[in-house]
Amino acid sequence: MQRISEPELMDQDEQARAYAEADFSEPHSQFVALFGEAFKGLEAAGTALDLGCGPADVAIRFARRFPGWRVDGVDGAEAMLKFGREAVRRAGLEDRIRLIKGYLPGAVPPLAAYDAVMSNSLLHHLAEPRVLWESAKRWTKPGAPVFVMDLIRPDSPEEAARLVDQYAADEPEILRRDFHNSLLAAYRLEEVREQLRAAGLAGLDLRAASDRHFVVSGRLPK
Ligand SMILES: C[S@@+](CC[C@H](N)C(=O)[O-])C[C@H]1O[C@@H](n2cnc3c(N)ncnc32)[C@H](O)[C@@H]1O
Repeated sequence: MQRISEPELMDQDEQARAYAEADFSEPHSQFVALFGEAFKGLEAAGTALDLGCGPADVAIRFARRFPGWRVDGVDGAEAMLKFGREAVRRAGLEDRIRLIKGYLPGAVPPLAAYDAVMSNSLLHHLAEPRVLWESAKRWTKPGAPVFVMDLIRPDSPEEAARLVDQYAADEPEILRRDFHNSLLAAYRLEEVREQLRAAGLAGLDLRAASDRHFVVSGRLPK
């Protein structure tokens, strides 16, 4: 099945609300658990950049799991950041998580070089996938951990519809629609492998993490 792109930013209020209120506890806790497994000797403290942070659920879970770390999240959609700021406040993590409005690749995060970079579900939104890999390299220190999780494009629209029914049966229609569109816009493993090669990141590990997700992990070249 050919990739069908979807809009980059999720900046409609209703869409952002449906996303922010959805239950992503399974994939987002898996994100943080797999990060911990991938970087067992992770420094006790550091700064992490979350690219396309959305409503900050991943940033919050990360900050709880790694209490010595601070997180800066960047996203181009104010509608998403509004929910993110509220979630960070509710979590009592305003002293460790900052959310910055910025459109990649032009966005400039507060720090020039982070100790780690992560991103969940941004890649499939990007018209130019190299924006993710170049941003990851641009804003992190040599040797820093990189951890990216995203959807894998299924073989057919029917398979995408089946995944929506399996994992978002009770979600609002707008979220089911976005999930379906995201699956159609996602990249195949072989496409991600080629992106990594083109970005000089072929040394990172790429693997399927579930029936609908892949994970890229490893350290940037020194
Ligand atoms: C599917 S959401 C994922 C949000 C969050 N990472 C999570 O896992 O919950 C994708 C996010 O990427 C943002 N985004 C897409 N393209 C972007 C770009 N070029 N620059 C900045 N943010 C972007 C969207 O606005 C949206 O909030």
